[in-house]
Amino acid sequence: MNTPRQELEARVARAVAALFSSPPLGPYVRPCPDTRHGDFQTNAAMVHGRTSQRNPREVAEELRAALDLDGIAEPAEIAGPGFLNFRLSSDYLNRQVTERWDDRRLGVAGVARPETVVIDYSGPNIAKEMHVGHLRSTILGDALARIYTFLGHNVIADNHLGDWGTSFGMILLGYKREGNAEKLELDPFGHLETIYQKIQAEAKADETVREAARHELVLLQQGDPVNRALWEKFLHFSIAALEMMYQRLGVQFDHQLGESFYNNMLAGVVKEMIEKGIARPSEGAIAIFSDGKLPPRDDPFLIFRKEDGESEGRFVDNPILIQKSDGGFNYATTDLATIRYRHDHFKAERVLYVVGAPQQMHFRQIFNAAERWGYGMMRLEHVAFGTILGPDKKPFKSRSGENIKLRALLAEAEERAGRIVGEKRPELNDHERVALARVVGLGALKYADLAQNRTLDYVFSWDKLLAFDGNTAPYLQNAYVRIRAIFRKAGLAEAEPAKVHLTEPAELALGRKLLDFADSIFLAAEENRPHFICNYLFELATLFHKFYELCPVLTSEAAVRSSRLLLADLTAKTLREGLQLLGIDVVEQM
Ligand code: ARG
Repeated sequence: MNTPRQELEARVARAVAALFSSPPLGPYVRPCPDTRHGDFQTNAAMVHGRTSQRNPREVAEELRAALDLDGIAEPAEIAGPGFLNFRLSSDYLNRQVTERWDDRRLGVAGVARPETVVIDYSGPNIAKEMHVGHLRSTILGDALARIYTFLGHNVIADNHLGDWGTSFGMILLGYKREGNAEKLELDPFGHLETIYQKIQAEAKADETVREAARHELVLLQQGDPVNRALWEKFLHFSIAALEMMYQRLGVQFDHQLGESFYNNMLAGVVKEMIEKGIARPSEGAIAIFSDGKLPPRDDPFLIFRKEDGESEGRFVDNPILIQKSDGGFNYATTDLATIRYRHDHFKAERVLYVVGAPQQMHFRQIFNAAERWGYGMMRLEHVAFGTILGPDKKPFKSRSGENIKLRALLAEAEERAGRIVGEKRPELNDHERVALARVVGLGALKYADLAQNRTLDYVFSWDKLLAFDGNTAPYLQNAYVRIRAIFRKAGLAEAEPAKVHLTEPAELALGRKLLDFADSIFLAAEENRPHFICNYLFELATLFHKFYELCPVLTSEAAVRSSRLLLADLTAKTLREGLQLLGIDVVEQM
């Protein structure tokens, strides 16, 4: 099913093709910024007027005459420098609302060509407990996985756990000195963190400790059975704890192939990189340099430098290490092996890396190296995001300056939501209140993150995210609840088939908005920005509240009542589906 925008786009493109010889220059159709002038507009006359050097208003006249809007919109109106404004016809509107209501997918078409898309998200370093810094990748990645799946792509959700880094050398050394199996089992992160911090402090002051830790790491990487067994134990308990967290968040993966999984492929990667002339020895290590093919300013292996006293700057090498002088491998080496694996094994056509903005340079380098390596057919994208800030506009930390543990954050969300819910619904028993608080609290936390344009930093605020007014999850969940209350009162599970006939401005506006659901999903997927769906749902809920105020449903005469019930039902289904795409649940009552 086409959205109105897609349908108009196709009609305009057809008229353009009939009128002009120049190639199509769309997309032409956008929502009208001011709905008083129309629902949609096109700038096609201006675009083609410019290329043929003609008066755009004259071109607009021709275009209007050539446009077939039958069954979709009123005759177009010419506005401003040569826009054509469209208003959807009420017949079309009534029909489209009905069709969407009748469709399990609410009118959202799948993509024409499904792709195999690996989504790489969460990826915590596992010797530490997940903290607030892991929230965005986990939530954003999960939403993208849901959106891509809904659109019909073959999604492979892969958690690239940091389970192999240098910190394990320290942890092994520390654990051998004062590790305790019981403590490890009870509180793996707490125990490993204590050990790690202690050894780290010692290592700072003492070269022999640093040396000993490096030695433990080399032993591990060479497959020493004692170190390997210890590491597996750390992994086992840490992953069990992580899994509880993912379950609580409702986040799932198809695979958890951590860095360690690629260990035995790394030597081969380095060898091939050297053979292909992509990497070379440099100061005892192996590094990848620029191949000089890109303009310097676009080349991630070059960086612009201007030293003190120099009058002009120049580009200098910005290599990436793939093997250290002690023989160890790097984060980049693993990522290169991962690209190969995802291509060969998963047949991935695209990979989305949902990772914070500070790793931008790393990914630009890796993507460039992968292309030179022969993986240019894969679309590799860094879905970068900004930082969550505290009230002081600095990265969100606890009062004592530590990272806020994700567990504590979720507990606080549920507790605060519990207090609000308890006030609103004093009749609930403890069990019901806790269950409701979980849906509201976690929903609010997730939504606050997803509603932000991901590339921006945002300031975390409990009051804002839990508000029942404004662009929040509770506001949307509440709109859903209101609709469900109408149906409970009517003694119906959902609307019955009915002839939709929208007449009042508030119901027309709601009906029109309902047809745009798919557009918001397409846009979210195209830009990997779920906030487009949030904005849409917020506008939808706001229009619903207006409708609810102005248009009686149950007390209206039969034909109006059944039409409005259907409109309300489609709104509820759209809210529920939209929130589902964001990993957020709805409840029947709150
Ligand atoms: N473990 C990394 C970190 O905490 C994130 C991993 C991201 N994925 C990747 N393929 N590099 O920074």
